[in-house]
This record gives sequence, C-alpha cells and structure tokens, in this order.
Amino acid sequence: MMNFKQSAQIGIGYRYEIHDWTLANLDSFDVLEITIDHYLVGGAARREAIAALVGQIPLIAHGIGLSVGTAVLPDQTYLDNIARALDELEIEWYSEHLALTKVPGIDLANLLPLPRTEEVAEQVINNVNFVKSRIPAAQFGLENISYMFDYPESTMGEAEFLNLICRETDSYIMLDVENVVVNSRNYHYDPRAFVDSLPADQVLEIHMAGGFFFEQTRIDSHSQPVSPETLGLLDYVMQVCEPRSIILERDDRLGAVDEIAADVSAIRNVVGRGNENAKSAVA
Ligand SMILES: [Fe+2]
Repeated sequence: MMNFKQSAQIGIGYRYEIHDWTLANLDSFDVLEITIDHYLVGGAARREAIAALVGQIPLIAHGIGLSVGTAVLPDQTYLDNIARALDELEIEWYSEHLALTKVPGIDLANLLPLPRTEEVAEQVINNVNFVKSRIPAAQFGLENISYMFDYPESTMGEAEFLNLICRETDSYIMLDVENVVVNSRNYHYDPRAFVDSLPADQVLEIHMAGGFFFEQTRIDSHSQPVSPETLGLLDYVMQVCEPRSIILERDDRLGAVDEIAADVSAIRNVVGRGNENAKSAVA
C-alpha cells in the first residue's frame, strides 16, 4: 500500500442540501466523499450536481445500500450500477459498512451489527470478493460501524472481525474514529487499544463526526460538532496510521455550516497542516 501520510486529503461528505455552500467553499477542501447511492437514486438534480463536481475536486465514494453482511450474495445489478457510477464520476475508492442493512426482500433501513463468528466472516468474505469481482476498477474498503446492541454468540472482537475480513479480501479499512469513540464509551473499552489492534498500513480512509449523549448512551448522530475526545483519538490515529483521506460526515443540522467549517479547521489542526494545502479558509 502507498504511504499517504504527507498528503492526507481532508474534506467532507458531499450533501446536496448544502450544495451551494460547498461549491462556494470548494477550495477549502482537498476531496469530497460522494454517497454513491444518492447519485444513483437521489433524483436528476442531485445527480447532475454531483456529476458537475468531476474535474473540480477529487472525489471518493461511500455506499449505504450494499448490506455486505446479508447472508446472500449482493445484487448484481446494484453492483453494476455502482461500477458504472464510479466510472462516470472518475472515482477509484469505494467504501461500505461492515454491517447488515437488509434481508432478502426487506430493507431494514438501519446499519445493524453482525454476529462476529467464523461462519459470518466467511459469508462476508464471499460477498466482498463478489463485490470486488463486479467492481474491479475500484479499491474497496470496509468501515467499522457504531451499534446499539451486540450478539452473545460473537466469538471475535470488533477489530479481530474487521481485520480478518479485510485481510482475506485485500480490502482497506475505512476507520470511523467517532464510531470507535461511541462504541468504546457504550461498551467500556479502550479506544486506543482498538486502534492499536488494527493493521496501521491498511487504514486508508477516516471518517469523523459528532454526536451526543442520551442519558448514559453516546449516539452517533452526525449532527453536532466533532468532540474534543474524537479529535484526540484522531490525533492518536495519525501517529500510527497513514490515511489518504479524512472525511467529516454531517447528516443533520446541515444549516450550521459554521460548525462544519470549524470542524474541518479542527481536523486540519490535528493533522498538523493547518490550512496550508487549502487555497483559502472556509467562509
Ligand atoms: Fe462513517
């Protein structure tokens, strides 16, 4: 794998709702992450807006519709549509969640965790290999999700399960740092130990986000500024990993663009580059 430490690109997940603001501040980002499902089924206006970004700024893709944890092979037509979309958008990096979002015939409309067993890992490995065979032009990555329940039959830890699948399928790790913080808080483990147990050279993309506490539970809402705790863990991650991109995810309270701008600046400060690679500060 390449060494990206000196050139980690920092950007945001593209959201059509703040298209005008994003375009007006494009020089402040090194990269934008497209939700590829939104390009495929989000309507003509959104599709055209995303397509118009090609050539203006590097793009990477994130998916939400694959459900790589479902116990049947992913839908071939869906994968072919993803492959075509990546080609149209000149995108070579495509990540998805290590999760279950559907069972045959039913979309569960949620990212659900998987029982972490050898049997499930084997099915996911089959599915990922199928994905990679249908989308050979892209590098494929898997993201650690946050979860609100766990399975008693799990025999592996989160990192062990993620590592096994990524190693066996030659997939990179999309490390969601907020999800590590959320899970470590809710399930009482050391977030740095989780980071330490990942193969550092496979962590090629990073997600950052902000959530909130509901009573004692930390919620991964993508609605708030990134917490100091999560920025602190990013700092730790950057000491051991060499990601090629760091993406801020915001999916709620999108009108608070000043918070998004401040988060991007905070991430740049943690990474230690200030705004030197951005042509101008975020307005
Ligand atoms: Fe994420």
